[in-house]
Amino acid sequence: MELDHIGIAVSDLDEARRLYGEVLGFEVSEPEELPDRGLRICFVDVGGAQVELLYPTAEDSAVGKFLASRGPGIHHLCYKVDDIRSKLKAIAAAGARLIDSEPRPGAHGTLVAFIHPKSTGGVLTELCQAAD
Ligand code: CO
Repeated sequence: MELDHIGIAVSDLDEARRLYGEVLGFEVSEPEELPDRGLRICFVDVGGAQVELLYPTAEDSAVGKFLASRGPGIHHLCYKVDDIRSKLKAIAAAGARLIDSEPRPGAHGTLVAFIHPKSTGGVLTELCQAAD
């Protein structure tokens, strides 16, 4: 397993794109819509891992609620795995609570699943498996 990306909740996607692009000098992807999750996201290639900018398009989405209660900031860490289904089974068997027992579609064709932050020291943790 290795770090794939750090998800950051943002309240203004244009401003976040400007921060990571013009101010910090990274390359920022074009926005991608994830309507099922009420999200518009961009990826920032920071070398090795990526930063995922998460902008909620629905107030009642998970990130919309997060922003309302905690404001902008780090939302989750994501680790890349080769076989997400077997890793989820192993993690559940080790006693951790899963948010998603079955993976679901993520950004650019990936499969993703979340582990409950109560089982991961307060850090919402995502697993992702690259598209074939
Ligand atoms: Co993510």
